[in-house]
Amino acid sequence: MASHAVMEDAVSPLRNITLSPASRHIVQGDLLEFTRDPIICMRQLHKACGDLAVLEEDGQRLAFVFSPEYNRQVLSNPNTFHCQFFALRGSRRSAQRRVTSGLLSMNGAEHRENRRIMMDVFTRRFLPQYHETITALTNKFTSAWETGQTRDLNQEMVRLMQRMSNSLLFGIDDDRYSDELGDKIDRWVRQNHEVGLGAFVARPEFREQYDELLLLAEDLERSVGEMLVRHRQTPHDRLDVLSLMMKAQQSEQQLSDERLIGHATLTFAAAHLTTAHTLSWTLFLLSQHPQAMQRLAAELESVGDKPDWTELQSLKWLDCVIRESMRLLPASSYSHRITSEPVSVGPLNLPKGAAVVFSQFITHHRPDLFEEPEEFRPERWLTINPGAYEYLPFGAGARRCIGADLAMMEIRTALSLILKEHHFQLQSGSQVDGRVVSTMLGPTSSVNAKLLPVEEIPVTVPVCGAIHQLMQLPEAATTPLHRAA
Ligand code: HEM
Repeated sequence: MASHAVMEDAVSPLRNITLSPASRHIVQGDLLEFTRDPIICMRQLHKACGDLAVLEEDGQRLAFVFSPEYNRQVLSNPNTFHCQFFALRGSRRSAQRRVTSGLLSMNGAEHRENRRIMMDVFTRRFLPQYHETITALTNKFTSAWETGQTRDLNQEMVRLMQRMSNSLLFGIDDDRYSDELGDKIDRWVRQNHEVGLGAFVARPEFREQYDELLLLAEDLERSVGEMLVRHRQTPHDRLDVLSLMMKAQQSEQQLSDERLIGHATLTFAAAHLTTAHTLSWTLFLLSQHPQAMQRLAAELESVGDKPDWTELQSLKWLDCVIRESMRLLPASSYSHRITSEPVSVGPLNLPKGAAVVFSQFITHHRPDLFEEPEEFRPERWLTINPGAYEYLPFGAGARRCIGADLAMMEIRTALSLILKEHHFQLQSGSQVDGRVVSTMLGPTSSVNAKLLPVEEIPVTVPVCGAIHQLMQLPEAATTPLHRAA
């Protein structure tokens, strides 16, 4: 039965971690607490244990590293610390196995070889060609927006980035098709998260949802396969990532169709929600920080209506705003590695097959690295220059995000074009929630805002919700309840 395959396939990396000499790093707790709310759990572990922590339940142990030095030890050693992003790969011949067969599931020589081929596709020399597509799509998308309307920024940014990713990655500009494929991938990502939780902590009750995951994977594989056929049949007069991958496939005979499906699915999944969340958070933060917004509006006035890529790169304050948003509310908030051999990290002795979590969120919120870390202060970026393992929104080391340059281009361009058309006034008393789903931190509530003309700067309004557990908003944005807490 399919359900049995899940647990055979599942990673069970929670055994035999030992510590020398002391146990002050161990916290007894419910492992599912981590999977239910990773940020709160990691904050507590960091507070209780410092740079290194172990969460233990009934002899099962999950290790956490929180300092730049431990981040370096884990992330700069891909041979010992393997990436196994998906806890559930499905059985050997399943669709789930195939759609998870992208870079995030590969290690060693296979990862190096596939990354080399993919890397070529994302090199800077292709970037200027993507800029035009990003500009055209953003303008088309926002042309439906009118001053005075109220829009859910979260929903809008997810849609925009689904369409943008379809266009840039697959050369598909059919909105309905893009939305459908995007929604399918999002449902599959969420289901992986839900079922993966159970696999991570080896809880049998999660088996029930496994069959649904397999069905979603089959449906998704069909859709991505159809997309490949459609892509081959459509003449492409402009650059897209899939065409470049197919070229590599022809010249090197190294990417089979099956591989292409894995790479296409995972690249899409890695690309659109991360960029969408970053844009939603940045618009939210700007709407609650009028001074930063005003300064950005002034800077954007210095460039024309359709700024080219060189102009956009010269916008220093825009850069500070984006960096600060990605520090404070990083779309990728944590990830994990599985050890391929016994290894020590500080006092932790990890056997082969142990899971180690590292966290962008916790590292970015360390007061020894960033003054007043809970506050949105873009001006800090005028004077600081943190190291690769201190500030790592795109990860670090051999598996640093392959699409980082493209993502920054999408975010810079979309944000400037959006803010040259409208500013956003949040509704007073809104509930703004943020939670991690499948390692990604994004808004989980609507973020409703009224569209203002660009001459108007939004004012800070009180909001409630889980956002207050993630960062400190200005005084005027806190309700009496949050002030008391
Ligand atoms: C704001 C947007 C983005 C963020 C925050 C982000 C973040 C990350 C992070 C943290 C990793 C490393 C994960 C780990 O070490 O476990 C990663 C890997 C990856 N990202 Fe991104 N990413 C973004 C956008 C993109 C885009 C636009 C693409 C492609 C078009 C992309 C494709 C990938 C791929 C393929 C990997 C796997 C690399 C490997 O394992 O060698 N990402 N990303």
